[in-house]
Amino acid sequence: ARVEFLDYDVLTERGWSLTDDDLFEKAAESDIDGDAYGQVFVEPRTNLLKAAEDAGHSWPFACRGGACANCAVAVVDGDVKMPSNHILSEEMLEQGVRLSCISLPVTDDLRVVYNIEHLPGLDELRL
Ligand code: FES
Repeated sequence: ARVEFLDYDVLTERGWSLTDDDLFEKAAESDIDGDAYGQVFVEPRTNLLKAAEDAGHSWPFACRGGACANCAVAVVDGDVKMPSNHILSEEMLEQGVRLSCISLPVTDDLRVVYNIEHLPGLDELRL
């Protein structure tokens, strides 16, 4: 799967929102450095966090086991599956929040915003 990613800090800096329809188009047209915006390819049975790390990126994480939410990303386009979820609320799941350490792509193309630690509600979940 091909994953286009964007750092949440960019949204904060530029006043963009996760719900902007043209979020990734704007990112593509802007001059954003390669760690904050770009794409990675995810091999089958590989989770998003691992794929990002294999490509040389440092995304936030702590437990690597689906228990802390430090690795949370917002899936804006496409879909992933998580084998289990014990910490994300229904509301967060509806917003597209997923744990990158245990998320496997199920669509060929994905767009995700990583580093979403400042998203409302997520702070309390992080260990
Ligand atoms: Fe803890 Fe992913 S690193 S849930």
